[in-house]
Amino acid sequence: MDKNIVWHDSHLSKAQRSQLKNQKPCILWFTGLSGSGKSTIANALEAKLYDSRVHSYLLDGDNVRHGLNKDLGFDEASRVENIRRIGEVAKLFVDSGVIVLTAFISPFISDREIVRHLIEEGEFIEVFVDTPIAVCQARDPKGLYQKALSGEIKNFTGIDSPYEAPQKPEIHLKTDTITVDEGANQIVEYLQSKGYIC
Ligand code: ADX
Repeated sequence: MDKNIVWHDSHLSKAQRSQLKNQKPCILWFTGLSGSGKSTIANALEAKLYDSRVHSYLLDGDNVRHGLNKDLGFDEASRVENIRRIGEVAKLFVDSGVIVLTAFISPFISDREIVRHLIEEGEFIEVFVDTPIAVCQARDPKGLYQKALSGEIKNFTGIDSPYEAPQKPEIHLKTDTITVDEGANQIVEYLQSKGYIC
């Protein structure tokens, strides 16, 4: 970093911005295989939060890769950089008092832990969207598993690139036994019970 760049403190604090919104900001970090249902559950959750007048914002893998991260691919270094940038953006949202939802495969434990430690204790909520790979492959909503299996796409998570499951996620959604709505409700209940939202 350039030594001539100096951090400029803001007059308003995160606490003040959060108070105005009547909520405690955090990152709901969805992780799971492609096709596991991260975006679907995150979208269902956002709708519920909106109805409860909670200020939230969803950062979604496929969308962010169209803009901010369009220069990145799927080799290991690119995925690490992808998550690093998302972590920094999500941190800014937290500072603004917003409850931010992120839906990225984020396959590596170390990258998710870096984001956890980027923000304050209790602000990082890991949501493991636990869907067996066989189910994701059968769904194959974008036809990408088929392409990966035929060798047309390289470095595909779960096929020829690893996925490291969370060891102690704050929220564990076993999607083969619950519906999207039940998954979203489980997260709302967590947020209420821990005082993030009323
Ligand atoms: S991450 O691994 O870097 O966190 P991210 O969530 O941003 O991945 O993007 C994953 C999405 O990109 C997938 O849902 C899928 O639609 C698409 N994709 C394209 N190529 C790959 C690949 N090689 N591995 C995984 N997903 C891929």
